[in-house]
Amino acid sequence: MDTAGLVALRHDLHAHPELAFEEHRSSEVVADYLRSLGLEVHRGLAGTGVVGVLRNGDSERCIGLRADLDALPLHEQNLFPHRSRHEGRMHACGHDGHTAMLLGAARELAEDADFNGTVVFIFQPAEETDGGARVMIEQGLFEQFPVDAVFGMHNWPGLAVGQFAVHNGPVMACADQFDIVLEGHGGHAAMPQQARDPLIAGAALVQALQTVVSRALDPLDPAVLSVTRFFAGGEAYNVIPAKAHIGGTVRTFRAEVQDRIEAALERLSAGIAAAHGVQAHLDYRRGYPPTVNSAAEAGLCVEVARAVAGDDNVHTELPPSMGAEDFSYMLREKPGCYVWIGNGEAEGGCMLHNPHYDFNDAILPLGVAYWVALVKRRLG
Ligand code: NI
Repeated sequence: MDTAGLVALRHDLHAHPELAFEEHRSSEVVADYLRSLGLEVHRGLAGTGVVGVLRNGDSERCIGLRADLDALPLHEQNLFPHRSRHEGRMHACGHDGHTAMLLGAARELAEDADFNGTVVFIFQPAEETDGGARVMIEQGLFEQFPVDAVFGMHNWPGLAVGQFAVHNGPVMACADQFDIVLEGHGGHAAMPQQARDPLIAGAALVQALQTVVSRALDPLDPAVLSVTRFFAGGEAYNVIPAKAHIGGTVRTFRAEVQDRIEAALERLSAGIAAAHGVQAHLDYRRGYPPTVNSAAEAGLCVEVARAVAGDDNVHTELPPSMGAEDFSYMLREKPGCYVWIGNGEAEGGCMLHNPHYDFNDAILPLGVAYWVALVKRRLG
């Protein structure tokens, strides 16, 4: 394995981070690399998406391996030579490493095609914000490339170098958003009897929303509802505002729980508003769905991870994360599995989305070995 080459590639991607759907340079780098290996390269899905196809033998079987291309709107505070050259943009989630590992695997497999079937290498834009996976699917990803299963991998700070975690079932949560506008009747602060105060209704509603998780859900169903925005009033101290705006996020692992939470939000907004003589307008928006691994594929990934990392280095009992991931859209369409690969210590700023974060180059060869072993096992 050309580890030095992979590290250089990873550093080049890290130094040139690009935001959602603007990954033009990264897309070019990936496409050139795949072409140089002799893979069939398809561009244009979701704009900057790249798909490489590697066929061998006569089997109809086909699997998809996915990496993400995008960076975050963050100002990098690292000072090492491969730090971001782009002001206000940073690879703070390690997607540079994910891309490098998948390219490394494409190279190994192209040079030693010891499998029977088709491998589809999927490089998607816009994981962080806009659901590039969803857009690729909407534009025909799985019609053009009918994979039997799809696999993803994310580096995981806090998990030791040399280790993997595989979840049978939910691995990441959904990420829904809600906005509630409370509409009252503005007026003079000294004459509240002539107004209908949306701010008081809002204060009561923020409190009431704390009962959604504790009272409306099965205690064995993990969920979090956080109110993160509350705006009302302007500059004046003597004006009762006409409107108050509350917003927040909901994370959970099952669609049924999302339904219950949305219904509870509707009920509480309407009820609290009515109690205070104001109107409530709820806008509940489903974001990334929960990321749920299928049992057979999770089992395969455990075997593969054990084969490359050793039996003691594969965790199968870690709790899932309340973070979200748009690979979930692919797992809604196809069976598959998304694993975590240890990035080492999360301390010292090396947590995801931290301005001091960096993908750990030491894990590049292990990530490549995992992808290669997975292909050989699945298409063996
Ligand atoms: Ni990420």
